Amino acid sequence: MPHPPIRSYVLRQGRFSRGQQRAYETLLPALGLAYRRSALDFPAVFGRSAPVVAEIGFGMGETTARIAAANPGNDYLAIEVHTPGVGSLLKQLEAGGIANVRIVQHDAVEVLRDMIPESSLAAIHLFFPDPWPKKRHHKRRLLQPEFAALAASRLVANGLLHVATDWQDYAGHVLAVLSATQGLRNTADGFAPRPAWRPETKFERRGLDLGHAVWDILFTRT
Ligand SMILES: C[S@@+](CC[C@H](N)C(=O)[O-])C[C@H]1O[C@@H](n2cnc3c(N)ncnc32)[C@H](O)[C@@H]1O
Repeated sequence: MPHPPIRSYVLRQGRFSRGQQRAYETLLPALGLAYRRSALDFPAVFGRSAPVVAEIGFGMGETTARIAAANPGNDYLAIEVHTPGVGSLLKQLEAGGIANVRIVQHDAVEVLRDMIPESSLAAIHLFFPDPWPKKRHHKRRLLQPEFAALAASRLVANGLLHVATDWQDYAGHVLAVLSATQGLRNTADGFAPRPAWRPETKFERRGLDLGHAVWDILFTRT
């Protein structure tokens, strides 16, 4: 039997509020896309041709909802495995009348690999990926050389890969891995200034409250 792949997440149930549950049950059929092993047709999915941005591991989705509402000319493919988070984002989409987001509740590596065509994304957002701070867990970190190469292959030319983290050694690892990935170019000299348009995320606030600093890393596809 082959080993199962190493997962970058642990499925936590966490609190699933009635509102999130209702949104999950009533809205997911329309706004969710089931995982499948064939590439999506973005114009068919979103009903128009517009730049598509993928957000990986959106957590409770506050940042996703804010960015999507602020950029109605873009479409957003939001990927998360955590059920209450999916319910939470759906609830915010409904409350805000936000129509340019679709959700895939599945492992982002398989979604990128199987559902996202090559050279199709205007940007990939990976905000505060699980840090797996213990050394023996570093292999569970999502951003590894294979992931970076896969992500780069899904971006259009000049498409943006934007990672943010509040863990210094993960930040250094991300910078080293992306710098060594063929087809990616750093937009900054090392770490990038935090772009004004990136809202503070829930995990970022948690990190700042713990006294952590935050590192933004922005590369483009050549
Ligand atoms: C530390 S949280 C950050 C959430 C949010 N981006 C924020 O900044 O508040 C990381 C999230 O990534 C999700 N995640 C981790 N690995 C994933 C994967 N392979 N596919 C999809 N989601 C993943 C987890 O479920 C978790 O919600």
